[in-house]
Amino acid sequence: MSLLIKNGEIVSDGKRFKADVLVEGEKIAQIGENLSAPADARVIDASGKFVFPGFIDPHVHIHLPFMGTFAKDTHATGSKAALIGGTTTYIEMLAPAGNEDLMDAWHLWTGMADGKSACDYSFHIGVTNWNDQTEGYLRELVGQGMKSFKVFLAYKGAFGIDDHALYQVCKLAKELDVVVTAHCENADLVAELQQKLLSEGKTGPEWHEPSRPESVEAEGTAHFATFIEMTGAKGYVVHLSNARALAAALDAKNRGVDLKIEVVIPHLTLDKTYAEREGVEGAKHVMSPPLRDKSNQARLWDALDRGEIDTVATDHCPFDVEQKHMGDGNFTKIPNGIPAIEDRVNLLYTYGVSRGNLPIERFVDAASTRTAQIFGLYPKKGTVQVGSDADLVIYDPAYRGKISAATSHVNNDYSGFEGFDIDGRPSIVTVRGEVAVEDGQFVGTEGRGDLLRR
Ligand code: URP
Ligand code: ZN
Ligand code: ZN
Ligand code: ZN
Repeated sequence: MSLLIKNGEIVSDGKRFKADVLVEGEKIAQIGENLSAPADARVIDASGKFVFPGFIDPHVHIHLPFMGTFAKDTHATGSKAALIGGTTTYIEMLAPAGNEDLMDAWHLWTGMADGKSACDYSFHIGVTNWNDQTEGYLRELVGQGMKSFKVFLAYKGAFGIDDHALYQVCKLAKELDVVVTAHCENADLVAELQQKLLSEGKTGPEWHEPSRPESVEAEGTAHFATFIEMTGAKGYVVHLSNARALAAALDAKNRGVDLKIEVVIPHLTLDKTYAEREGVEGAKHVMSPPLRDKSNQARLWDALDRGEIDTVATDHCPFDVEQKHMGDGNFTKIPNGIPAIEDRVNLLYTYGVSRGNLPIERFVDAASTRTAQIFGLYPKKGTVQVGSDADLVIYDPAYRGKISAATSHVNNDYSGFEGFDIDGRPSIVTVRGEVAVEDGQFVGTEGRGDLLRR
């Protein structure tokens, strides 16, 4: 089976040009003008549309035991929602609960995705404790192609690790040449501030942000950067949310620390007033690091435009309204997370490219190409090139719509972005040569996704 995509405008690897794309089997076979269709080819007219490389989301939670409950998606639901939104590959945070055996977690997490995901996927290996077996397990999993670790400086008593463990992880990452991704907030300060606010009777969701202020994230960011610097490892700060934390990360970068920076779409488009809404309406917008004062957004967009911020992810983490009610009367018990896997690309296109905050080339770079490069997926993924996987998004910039839970494919009963306008959406999405989405509908094959060994 082959596909010929005609008359589209390709945006890839910093370039933008009109050309046809011929797909044969799972790969891009030719790119050029006036290509002719093989006898068996399906011809797709992409006039007036962009042809982007499939987008990559390097930070999602699908199976996640967290705060006494589980995130709502399965790989069947999450991957379809991802694909409908133009994401053809995601990297899940494998996060063993506290003292869970890492190898048991590996079998559990991979078992949940295998034969279920419709898009390709990989894992960051979460190190949530450090014991006699951890180093051996990590060596084995890196040998299996899982070339990135995840650590939480936050979540004391749950996923969080201490400085001794952090040092061991970074030292091993340096030896094995893998990336350490990190959630950077000072866990002890968060715990102290949470107790202080609760003791003052400050219990609603509006107190989540003051319990983990910008400075506490900046401290965590500088702290992580110092461990990366001392070990010479490669670091990646996940979901950086504010200008002060950004300054800490850029300060480290400027002194030569190998640090990459990720922002997530909620921090670019939502602010803390959403979490200040009454009761569960506020709880729907509780995530960590928290939604911040709106004044941070201009700096984040600017740094993204300049390439100081490398990537845009989601931190997709769906908890439904009933789960969000677990934090009624105590904001520290609200399950943290906002679903976004279906909406990232459309929101980034709309509030970045369409509204003049981000050049289209940088949009593709931040949401696909650079992510593939950082995590060892390039040029199989993240580019429209001959020989690459035919993961393609034919994007319609003329589409107009609104985000709503009522039309979302995520397994959840609310959207954090309810009513947000969308200036564009994928009209066709392919995964390794198979058409998986047409005009907002999943038409692909459930369970076809491959585990990507990097
Ligand atoms: O609130 C969030 N971010 N939930 C998911 C877990 C994490 O910290 O990424
Ligand atoms: Zn996190
Ligand atoms: Zn510190
Ligand atoms: Zn996360």
